[in-house]
Amino acid sequence: MDTLGIIVNGATGRMGHRQHLVRSLVAIINQGGVPMPDGSRVQLDLVLVGRNEAKLAAAAAENGLENWTTDLDSVLNDPRYPVYFDPLSTSLRHDTLKRAIAAGKAIYTEKPTAETFEQAVELARLAEEAKVPNGVVHDKLYLPGLLKLRRLIDDGFFGEILSVRGEFGYWVFEGDTIPAQRPSWNYRSEDGGGIVADMFCHWNYVIENLFGSISSVYAKTATHIPTRWDEKGQAYTATADDAAYAIFELANGTIVQMNSSWDVRVNRDELVEFQVDGTKGSAVVGLFGCKIQPRDITPRPTWNPDIPDEHDYRADWVEVPDNTVFDNGFKAQWEEFIRSLVLGEKYPYDLLAGARGVRLAETGLASSAQGRRIELPPLTSVDQAEAAVAPAVAKAL
Ligand SMILES: NC(=O)c1ccc[n+]([C@@H]2O[C@H](COP(=O)([O-])OP(=O)(O)OC[C@H]3O[C@@H](n4cnc5c(N)ncnc54)[C@H](O)[C@@H]3O)[C@@H](O)[C@H]2O)c1
Repeated sequence: MDTLGIIVNGATGRMGHRQHLVRSLVAIINQGGVPMPDGSRVQLDLVLVGRNEAKLAAAAAENGLENWTTDLDSVLNDPRYPVYFDPLSTSLRHDTLKRAIAAGKAIYTEKPTAETFEQAVELARLAEEAKVPNGVVHDKLYLPGLLKLRRLIDDGFFGEILSVRGEFGYWVFEGDTIPAQRPSWNYRSEDGGGIVADMFCHWNYVIENLFGSISSVYAKTATHIPTRWDEKGQAYTATADDAAYAIFELANGTIVQMNSSWDVRVNRDELVEFQVDGTKGSAVVGLFGCKIQPRDITPRPTWNPDIPDEHDYRADWVEVPDNTVFDNGFKAQWEEFIRSLVLGEKYPYDLLAGARGVRLAETGLASSAQGRRIELPPLTSVDQAEAAVAPAVAKAL
């Protein structure tokens, strides 16, 4: 059996530990490696990297692993580990990814790939020049609800897709009486916070992979709650956007409206839901669920404010059953990335895709600041991306 060495930098962070280490990489080791198309398996050899020896030793021991270090350079120079994975705080990523690319490592990284579009494009350029394979976490595409949606789209269920309305959000407590359930840096723009920076890179890959590439954005952001309380109970001023109301136009004419907010109370089945309306049918999908209404069973409402409407509109929808097994999305993507790496195939969700996500966030913020819709030219090559950097930066200023 082949073995692939992976550097896991930030192995004790929230995402690094739970979703990537425990739920993905250790789960892959415990199942006997990544299954390959020829029936063989690729087993993983992990080295955990971080700042705190005690935490690293504990994380390694808990997961039956032996190798950890606080010296990143030592493993970047170690040929036994050809893959570098980065789930660090976003502000550190540009620097660490540059070091890993320079060391010739294949890259797999959390989103956003950088804090600015310019830096994200630089990373894509450096990886291309160094010919290092690279992949960016696109986890939402692997959620059961979105996999069911993918199947409906591929089956032609919708006919022509006209519009998509997405609602994402929930109430994040201010932290004064009930502790906030998100870290305080999320609400400070000087620390890389903001719901646009956090979520628009997700919306970019969800939209471009399911519905089509985004050709323009209009967004209105808000900081609805100006004062919050941090992890130590200290009041602080929220400087970052905590809600964003966006319209994305797609090159194929579909309109996507997306509300993202940490200041809404949930009256939905799930914390994110997308309603997709097409000529032949509609669907409402969440993380897990997916309900559909084909054209042939669509009711025919008429507007009459004088007569109370007794019709139960929710009863007109049919739930798509869980008729296949859905693995953890982060793990499913890890397996896909490793397979493509070992087989030498180009991985589609790469640093250029990551840069498109960072561009959408940056342009969304610029759109809100300037109160106008901003065009997004296609970015299908690093050359195009580099050409787009200068005007994008100028427009944002
Ligand atoms: N794909 C997703 O759904 C998703 C969800 C949440 C977060 N993320 C992304 O994952 C990344 C990490 O987010 P998180 O919520 O796990 O954050 P976190 O604060 O829990 O983890 C950050 C990691 O960076 C390390 N770190 C911080 N400062 C450091 C320094 N100066 N030197 C070395 N290491 C340092 C920490 O030790 C920790 O391991 C972010 O980029 C975030 O955007 C992705």
